[in-house]
Amino acid sequence: MKKPLFLMLISTITLSTFISGCSRDYTPAVNATGEEIFKGACMECHEVVEGKSNVYYELDEENKNIDFFSKKISSGSLLMPKFPNITTDKLTAVSQYALDHSIKK
Ligand code: HEC
Repeated sequence: MKKPLFLMLISTITLSTFISGCSRDYTPAVNATGEEIFKGACMECHEVVEGKSNVYYELDEENKNIDFFSKKISSGSLLMPKFPNITTDKLTAVSQYALDHSIKK
């Protein structure tokens, strides 16, 4: 009876890690620009849209605003980690950069 319990424990841990999403320690340098933060923190997952250099997102009209980006970066989602160390002017800078480099659907 020990083995199934062990396996259940492992799968519970794996599942809860997945559900709560994760958090990144990335901390921008004091003078980092939006572009530098984006390249350091985001490009691991968000790549250039094929055929459109310098474009990373296709957004719905209602999401074309800094608020949407700031919330996404601060809160993350099921699949995207949150970035608790990107705050204040750095949060605005990287949000603006990402917004400037997106196309709406
Ligand atoms: C570990 C991978 C990963 C990293 C790093 C990451 N993202 Fe994401 N991001 C995702 C995934 C997966 C999605 C799609 C799921 C979702 O919308 O939550 C997403 C979605 C988004 C969206 C919503 C796009 C849409 O079309 O609605 C925005 C905005 C965004 N990310 C911005 C950022 C920014 C800015 C950074 C850097 C600070 C970043 N992401 C870093 C994985 C990542």
